[in-house]
Amino acid sequence: MIQPPAQLSSLVTVDDYEVAARERLTPMAYDYYRSGADEEHTLRRNRDAFARYELWYRTMVDVSSPRVATTVLGDDVAFPILVAPTAYHRLACAEGERATARAAAELGSLYCASTLATTTLEDVASAAPDAARWFQLYVHKDRDFTARLLARAKAAGYRAIVVTADTPVLGRRCADVRNGFCLPDGLVMENLVDALPPDLREGAGSELARFVASRHDPAFVWSDLVAIAAQAAPLPVVVKGIARADDARRALDHGARAVWVSNHGGRQLDLAPATIDALPEVVRAVGDRCEVYVDGGVRSGTHALVALALGARAVFVGRPVLWGLAAAGAEGVAGVLTLLRDELIRAMQLAGCPDLESTRDDVVRRRLAPAGSFP
Ligand SMILES: Cc1cc2nc3c(=O)[nH]c(=O)nc-3n(C[C@H](O)[C@H](O)[C@H](O)COP(=O)(O)O)c2cc1C
Repeated sequence: MIQPPAQLSSLVTVDDYEVAARERLTPMAYDYYRSGADEEHTLRRNRDAFARYELWYRTMVDVSSPRVATTVLGDDVAFPILVAPTAYHRLACAEGERATARAAAELGSLYCASTLATTTLEDVASAAPDAARWFQLYVHKDRDFTARLLARAKAAGYRAIVVTADTPVLGRRCADVRNGFCLPDGLVMENLVDALPPDLREGAGSELARFVASRHDPAFVWSDLVAIAAQAAPLPVVVKGIARADDARRALDHGARAVWVSNHGGRQLDLAPATIDALPEVVRAVGDRCEVYVDGGVRSGTHALVALALGARAVFVGRPVLWGLAAAGAEGVAGVLTLLRDELIRAMQLAGCPDLESTRDDVVRRRLAPAGSFP
């Protein structure tokens, strides 16, 4: 039975949105959005790791007009909580990616559209023509096809290309394998229609896993990034999926303009570190050379504040946006982004941070583990 949109006034945390989303999604779609790889240690770690940080607030600071507007790669954003690329938004609501694009634009956030969208990248662009938007690229074995995707993104006015580096093969998401995850009739990966293998539906397990195995290039290496960056020019390239200092430096040495600390929301390599723990070493490694973004487990404004205080230029959220979309379409996405923005502002005020620069001034510290415990 199709349920009406959730009453947003009753949803006061991101977790409330998840409950409302779950009531409206098919079990297969909910599992696809929620799940992580293997035993889901990294999925849990991403979020749980925030509890190991402490915000050492300052008092008696004038926080009467908090300032959260900033820029990413030169484009203005109203606050540094942005929309990560996630596949298949039309599983959540009929308007799908177009609703996400509209809501992000309305709030002054930024939407990074996925290669695996269920809406063409041109239609995503036309939903919010004046908004800055980024395009996330999976590099295909068929490099001519990859080049065509890049050309389309440029023509449609995308402002940056985000190359996802953590998916040479698809992580094993057991729920999807069990469910035989596939897109329902009528939904396709719209950007890829001329590249879809005919037999995608055939075989046991996850349709997405079969697709990635057939199309993604597991031999994509750093030297190939130089060619991708040249094809993307003049658009800047961001490498997403970085977890370590040496990779961050390699990304910049091979043409990237910025790096994005991510483990794909715990959906790829299980036992990978929590992204918030990886962030400081990446920030130290790149210094002033580039902006650093992070995603993974951000479910509140205090989480976002920890990430900003550790040196992230902006944080991205994946699942929270999907929960908003499933709960109430564009209004739900706007509801989630508003909630996170307001939580960030309140957390900054309580921490004595009137602006984003001041969040970097010794506000966050890692909590020492009690003797004998395994943090
Ligand atoms: C359902 C789902 C689909 C995703 N699809 C993509 C994708 O197509 N491309 C990509 O680079 N990352 C993808 N990601 C990873 C997100 O961009 C992001 O790294 C992750 O969701 C952040 O973690 P969070 O969900 O805890 O916020 C996906 C994540 C989820 C949950």
